[in-house]
Amino acid sequence: MIAAASALAAKTAALRPAAQRAAFSSSGAARAVSGRIAVIGGGQMGSGIAQVAATHKHDVTLVDVSQEALERGRGYMAKSLKRVAKKQFPEDAQAQGRFVDEVLGRVSLSTSPAAAVGDAGLVIEAVVENIKVKQELFAGLAAAAPEGAILASNTSSLPIARIAEPLSAERKRRFLGLHFFNPVPQMKLVEVVRTDAADQQAVDDAVAFVKGIGKVPAVCKDTPGFIVNRLLLPYMMEAIRLLERDVASAQDIDTAMKLGAGYPMGPFQLCDYVGLDTIKFIVDGWHKEGQGLVGDKLFAPSAKLDELVAKGHLGVKTGKGFYEY
Ligand code: CAA
Ligand code: NAD
Repeated sequence: MIAAASALAAKTAALRPAAQRAAFSSSGAARAVSGRIAVIGGGQMGSGIAQVAATHKHDVTLVDVSQEALERGRGYMAKSLKRVAKKQFPEDAQAQGRFVDEVLGRVSLSTSPAAAVGDAGLVIEAVVENIKVKQELFAGLAAAAPEGAILASNTSSLPIARIAEPLSAERKRRFLGLHFFNPVPQMKLVEVVRTDAADQQAVDDAVAFVKGIGKVPAVCKDTPGFIVNRLLLPYMMEAIRLLERDVASAQDIDTAMKLGAGYPMGPFQLCDYVGLDTIKFIVDGWHKEGQGLVGDKLFAPSAKLDELVAKGHLGVKTGKGFYEY
C-alpha cells in the first residue's frame, strides 16, 4: 500500500515541469520543503533531526532497521519533546501533552527506506558511520526518491563526495552534507557541506531548509571534519591522551575545561555524549584511510578508547563510557 502510493508519488513528480520538480521553494521559512522529509537512521541524531523537522511542521518519515529501533527513536523524541513542551507551556500540562502528541503525530515510522523516500523532498541519512553502509543505502534511495529531491548525509567525518560515488551525475548535483550537532533539538548549527559536483541551487535550497527549522547554517567545503569536527576531534583525542599519561583524572580534566575554558561540557562528558564508537570510527577512518590525514598523530589510535569500545562501553547510549550513567 505504502509502496504503491510512493511509486505513484515518484511517477507524478517525474511528470511535473523541472521548476516544479525542484523539491524546495524559497518562500516561507517554515515551508522550505514541499515533500516529506525522510530521515534514515533513528538513533540519537536521526531522531533529533526528525523531531526538529516535525516541530517545524514538516511531515517526516523516520526509518530504521527494526521496529524495536524505531520505538527507541520515538522514545528519544518523546523525552526531548517533553522538555521543550515544559519550557513552552510552563503552567499548562494539557498544552504540553497536545504539543508532544501533535509533533509526534507528524512523524511516521518505517522499516522500508524505499517506501519512505518515494514522496520525499529531502532525505537525510543518519545511520552508522560506515562508508559501505552509507553508499549501499544511497544507491537504493536514489533509485526510489523523486528526481528533484535533495539527498543529504549527516556523516561526521566521511567525504560527502565518496558517499555519493555510486550515484549518477544528476543525483550528485543535489547531494550534500547536512551535518547536525548533538543534541539536535538544542544545538543551533547545521553545516551545509558542498562537494565540487553540487549545484548552487541545491546549496541554496538546503540553506533555506536549515533556516526554516530554526537552525543556523554554515556552508563549507567537503574536507575532513568540515569545520567543527576538524577542531573538536583533536581536542577530544588530546584529552584522552592526557588521561592515558595519567596527567589528571577524567573528572579533573572535565572540570578544568569547563571552569578554565568556559566549555559547557568537559571533553570526557562530550565523548560519552557523542558516542565512543562514533569517535573511534572518525579517528580510525582519518588515520588509516586518509583524506590527507593518513598517519597524522592527532588522530592516532588510543588504547583507552579502543578498550572501551571493544567492551561495548560507548557512552551515554549504553549507560557506560568514561563515566557511568
Ligand atoms: N532536547 C531538548 N532540549 C534539550 C536537550 C534535548 N535532548 N538537551 C538539552 N536541552 C535543553 C534543556 O531543556 C535546557 O533548556 P533551557 O536552558 O532553555 O532550560 C538546555 O538545553 C540546557 O540543558 P541542561 O540544563 O539540562 O544542561 P546543560 O546546561 O548542561 O546543557 C547541553 C546541555 C546543551 C548539551 C550543553 O551541555 C552543551 O552545549 N554541551 C556541548 C554539546 C556539544 O558540544 N555538542 C556537539 C557535539 S559534536 C557533534 O555533535 C558533531 C559530531 O559529528 C560528532
Ligand atoms: P546511533 O548509533 O545512535 O544511530 C544509528 C541508527 O542507524 C541506529 O538506530 C541503527 O539501527 C540505524 N541504522 C544502521 N544501519 C541502518 C540502515 N542501513 N538503514 C536504516 N537505519 C540504519 O548513531 P548516531 O550517533 O545517531 O550517528 C548517526 C550518524 O550521525 C553517523 O554518521 C554519525 O557520525 C553522525 N553524527 C553523530 C553525532 C553524534 O554526536 N553522535 C553528531 C553528528 C553526526
